[in-house]
Amino acid sequence: MSENKNDTSTSKIEPTSTSRRKFVAGATAVGAAASALPVQSFANVAGSDQVKVGLIGVGGRGSGAIVQNLTGNDKAVFHSVADAFGDKIDGTGPRARGIPQIQKTLEESGKGGQMDVPAERQHAGFDAYKAVIDEVDVVCIATPPGFRPIHFDYAIQQGTHVFMEKPVCVDAKGYNTVINAAKLADEKGLKCVVGLQRHYQGVYEAAFEKVHKEGLIGEIVSAQCWWNTQRPWIVARQDGWTEMEYQMRNWYHFNWLCGDHIAEQHVHNLDIVNWFVSGDSEKGGNPISVQGMGGRQGTEPKSVGEIFDHHYCEFRYGPEYNNAIMNSQCRHIKGTWRQVAEEIHGTEGILYLGQGKITNRKGETIWQYRKPRGEANPYQVEHDRLHDAIINDKPLNNAYYGAKSSFTAVLGRMATYSGQNITWDEAVESDFSILPEEFDMNAEPPVKPDGNGDYYVAIPGEYKLPWK
Ligand SMILES: NC(=O)c1ccc[n+]([C@@H]2O[C@H](COP(=O)([O-])OP(=O)(O)OC[C@H]3O[C@@H](n4cnc5c(N)ncnc54)[C@H](O)[C@@H]3O)[C@@H](O)[C@H]2O)c1
Repeated sequence: MSENKNDTSTSKIEPTSTSRRKFVAGATAVGAAASALPVQSFANVAGSDQVKVGLIGVGGRGSGAIVQNLTGNDKAVFHSVADAFGDKIDGTGPRARGIPQIQKTLEESGKGGQMDVPAERQHAGFDAYKAVIDEVDVVCIATPPGFRPIHFDYAIQQGTHVFMEKPVCVDAKGYNTVINAAKLADEKGLKCVVGLQRHYQGVYEAAFEKVHKEGLIGEIVSAQCWWNTQRPWIVARQDGWTEMEYQMRNWYHFNWLCGDHIAEQHVHNLDIVNWFVSGDSEKGGNPISVQGMGGRQGTEPKSVGEIFDHHYCEFRYGPEYNNAIMNSQCRHIKGTWRQVAEEIHGTEGILYLGQGKITNRKGETIWQYRKPRGEANPYQVEHDRLHDAIINDKPLNNAYYGAKSSFTAVLGRMATYSGQNITWDEAVESDFSILPEEFDMNAEPPVKPDGNGDYYVAIPGEYKLPWK
């Protein structure tokens, strides 16, 4: 599996943000902490046909994704790991799972023999991702999304197949980086799955057939979608942390890391609407403009971070997609109505994806999804399909639609923060970036608290778009 590693000869892509930014802290083996772990090199790993898998970001999702990845191919061996923090790898830090938890899960499912991550292949630090990507065939990337374009770009440059979590960018520079790397992945025959798992879920796949093969709802004219849930987790500041460390630990609340709630969670719903409106399961589609409103009204103090707690957006698609409109809401205010779903409205009927049914315009049900007994978990299916595409050299590259849907969310954020009506093209062409210039726990993050310890929260009408 390792022959195509480091083959960058086919690259026609300009160097991207990876080369421009400065990664100060060198990757370090986790060392003392790791040596105390019950993690061993397993003697019975597969022979030369093994597929080496790496993990970047040993958090809640990464710990699950790596197990699902290994389950997708019994030749796959968990080979190396990277995290910004050593205490996330050894499982002792705030919200940590760590290598011990992954090992336990694998052993309980009889897959302990697929793990071979000795201390020297446990890498901590901002540039630890390079050490992992350099030594594996497949990488699972599950860090906060701000880093995704940098990690994805490097993986593709190095000839590595990718599973990466959503969202895949938080700004225009990130979007452009992912699109360019996606093109390079195609040139190199590399496979990529994005963790927008609804694409691998029975009800969504079946509904797509009903709408686009059988035409059950006629022409799509509009859509509604929601991610209205509870408050996200908060990590409290600890003595001794630098400002950069606080933001890294409490990443959900900072745009350069998270992209705001609209990107971090609502991307799932925006992505479904892009998918159904465009009818394109490979490259996806995107709206051409958006205006919206939002703010911060809930109970989170401004000392926690800078994100909004509610957004409402009106996205408009172009003439190739019937000039359709998408109304989207996301909110995380305690005690408010909960709804996570999508609805697609056509000239002949309405698809209710949350209920898996289609009605005609009179409200009579004309199709109802029946979940088969033992239906596979989409979080598993996405990894099974990735390994199948790698083994059988089938085309598979979700990075285009992953990038378009992630940037749809970013566009929404720019509209609700600014209160302006903005276009896709102006935002993409601006190539604006919100990431720091330097990655180091002692470096300056792009936003800082004021004298009261509060972060600036955008005020529509006052907030300036970065390209204006
Ligand atoms: N598809 C889904 O349903 C789903 C579900 C949960 C999470 N996710 C996604 O997975 C990603 C991670 O979420 P999580 O809940 O696991 O977060 P988490 O905080 O539990 O884990 C993220 C890990 O990445 C590490 N990290 C941060 N910056 C890093 C860097 N530069 N290099 C290496 N490691 C770094 C953190 O220290 C942490 O251990 C998010 O993008 C999230 O949206 C997707």
